[in-house]
Formats: sequence, structure tokens, C-alpha cells
Amino acid sequence: MKRKLTSAKKVGGTLSVPGDKSIAHRAALLSILASEPVVAVNYPDNLDCRASLEAARKFGVVIERNRNTVTFTPPSQLELPADIIIDCGNSATTARLLAGLVAGSNLSVILAGDESLSTRPMKRIIDPLREMGAEVFDQDGHLPLKIEGKKLLPFEYRLPVASAQVKSSLILAALASKCSLTLIEDIITRDHTEIMLAHFGEGLSIREIKPMMIPDPHDPRKKRMSVPEDFKKEIKLASHSVVRGGTVDIPGDISTAAFFMSAAAISGGTLTIENLGLNPTRTSVVEHLKNIGCRVEIRDKNILSGEPRGTVTVTGGPLKARKISGDTTAGLIDEIPIVAIMAAFAEGTTIIRDANELKVKECDRLEATAANLRKMGVKCGLLEDGLAIEGGEERNGADFESFGDHRIAMAFSVAALFLDGPSTIDDDSTVAVSCPEFYNLLETFIQ
Ligand code: S3P
Repeated sequence: MKRKLTSAKKVGGTLSVPGDKSIAHRAALLSILASEPVVAVNYPDNLDCRASLEAARKFGVVIERNRNTVTFTPPSQLELPADIIIDCGNSATTARLLAGLVAGSNLSVILAGDESLSTRPMKRIIDPLREMGAEVFDQDGHLPLKIEGKKLLPFEYRLPVASAQVKSSLILAALASKCSLTLIEDIITRDHTEIMLAHFGEGLSIREIKPMMIPDPHDPRKKRMSVPEDFKKEIKLASHSVVRGGTVDIPGDISTAAFFMSAAAISGGTLTIENLGLNPTRTSVVEHLKNIGCRVEIRDKNILSGEPRGTVTVTGGPLKARKISGDTTAGLIDEIPIVAIMAAFAEGTTIIRDANELKVKECDRLEATAANLRKMGVKCGLLEDGLAIEGGEERNGADFESFGDHRIAMAFSVAALFLDGPSTIDDDSTVAVSCPEFYNLLETFIQ
């Protein structure tokens, strides 16, 4: 539905956001391979996570929901009618992770998705899965995929794209097939699969490559910095790896919180978010807020189910532009649309590079962001692999398009709070993909 958006005078307060979507997907999908129940505390009720929950149900997992706690009890044996169709909706995480799981199982499954998901690239998982020996029938690199599971071969792979979905797809394939796997990451991506397996599985080992000081061969009195490998991380899964099961306490989703923290950043207000996920592979947005001029305070830090969390207070200030590229862009993969909104209100020109992955998200997020920014009077250039956004103060309300993408809808709904005059968003229902509570939460801290 089209929604009217009005401007806000002040932003501030305390809130908590729904559970982390990435962690929730993994709890639901790993339960299919588990030997004992997986209890997911604070499982979010959004469309993407429902797609993984319903997929698990189709695999015979018994699901009981008590408020926000979902218990996934796995079947004693994986049995499914041949060529059963699983609808992954809009969720690429569901489709890509399940593709791996099925490829290494003894099942034959068809994975389908909505119009947007059917345009998203699947070659990135199909190619390595085929190298492992998987039988995958695709539509020119897209869904629907028909996968005939079989015993896969031990595999070593250096990930050519920085993608936690590809990494996790291969881990699930190896787990399902009980074959060994070595993965090399050049750019570190979110590690929730590894953390969950360390928490309630066995057989995974990780080597993170960190620079170290070694004696200088030319002058042993001196030391010099050395990086022992030309990659960042090695993940090894032994052929005897297992998923047992247990309780996963899911912290608040930092990618959802980013929209609210950014509202505080632009308004100069103070916002506190409790029980927020602070996994270091996800906190680039916190660093970014500090870099552009916000004060960020973190309290009550602790780790539950292997996942760090804490209470984060953001106080906005005059914002300044900052160049974003390389690993930083990868770390902000889901936050670039809202980072672009903050850039529009910052002093100076923000350049975002190395952001080609944004073109293959729920929509082309570079095009969508640029089009909507221009509607509010912002000078925004589309670069070959990013955006150049000229910041400023006078911004007009506009009729925004969501492009069927939840993060575009949320980003421009936040922008609308600070524009001169009313705005609209063409389809507010799309926020339900990751945060159906979005507009209610927004209302709790704007005046
Ligand atoms: C996700 C990984 C990222 C991210 C997506 C969720 C995950 O995608 O953008 O929202 O849960 O593994 P890529 O793996 O395509 O980078």
C-alpha cells in the first residue's frame, strides 16, 4: 500500500529490534540436519525467516512456536517425495543455503522463488556445487533449480565473491554429504554459520590470518610486519562433522537497527538499542556512524550462543562525508542504502566504491538509491561500482519508489522524516520481508 510519510521534529528513546535475520535462517535450516531439537529464542517473524521456517517444515522438521521462541525438532530420517517444490519467496539466503543442503543429501528437490529472487544470480553457488559433484539443473543461472542430491566429493575452494551465502551453502552441502571441505576467504564475511556450528556442532576449524611482527631478515635487531598468508580466513570442515542441536539465543538485528540509528544520526537525537547483535563481521555500520561524526556508546556487552551483543547508544551530530570502499563496503553490504541517506545530510561528497554486489540484491540498490535521492533534490552520480552523493541541508519531500525492496523502502521512509514537505512510499508492505514492525517501531521514537 502507498504510505504517506511526514517529517519529524525530534528523534530519541530506547527500543529493541527483532532478532537477527541471518542467524534465524541458519537456526531453521541447520535444524534439518540436526540430531536434536534446535530452540531459537527471539526468532523474528518476518517473511524471509518464515520462508526458511516453512522450508524446514517441508523437510519433516516439527515446528512449535511459543511467542518468539521456536523449537525445531528434526525428523529421525530425511525423506521427501521426489521433486517436491520449495518456495523460498524473496529470500536468497533460504534458496542458496538450501541448495547446498539438498545437493549433499539423498533428496530431489525443486527450489523456486518470487519474481525478484528468480532474477538473482545462482551461478555463484551452482558452479562450486557442481565442482563438488552435485547435480543441479538451472534456468540459465537462475531459479527454479532442480537439485538431485548425491554423495559429494571433498572440496577446496577460494571464494571468488565475498558472500556469506555462498560460503554457507557449501558448508551445508559438505555437512549433508559428510565430505571434507576447505574454504578460503579473501574478504571476511558474516560468520554466523561457523559460530552456530561451533556452538552446537562438531568438526569445524577456523584459521584467521592476522598480521604479526617478525624479526627483520636484514637486521635482526629490528622487527617488521608480516602477513603469513595472502588470504584472510581458512575454514575447514572434517568429513565426520555433525550438527547436534541446542538453544540459540538470537540478538537484535543490527542491519534493521541501522535504519533507526541513522535517524538519530541525522536528527542529532539520542537513541538506545538494547540486546543488539555486535558480531564483528556486522558492526561496520557502528564504525561508520563514529567516522561520520556520531557518538556511539556500547554497554552491557556479553556473548550468548557464541554471538556478541550489547546495548548501543547513538547520539547524532553534524555529519561529514567519508569515502567507503573495499572491505568497508563489504562490511556494509546491507546498510549501503541507509548509509547513502546519511550521506545526503552530511557535509561534503560521499563516495561509495566496490559496491557491485548491490546491483544483484532484492533490486539494483545503486540505481534505486540514486533515483530516489535525486527525487529529493540530492545530486547523486552513479559510478561504475558505486555512488557519489553530494551532501546538503535543503531536501524536499518526494514520492519514493521501493522497487519491491524492503531496505529501499525503509531507507527512504527514514529520509522522509527530515525532508521539507510530505513524502510517500509506493509500497510499504515490502518492509515485512525483514521487519514487519518497522513503522510501529519508528513511531515509538519520533515526535
Ligand atoms: C546474508 C549474506 C549477505 C547479505 C544478506 C544476508 C546471509 O548476502 O547481503 O542480506 O545471511 O548470509 P551475500 O552472501 O550475497 O553477500
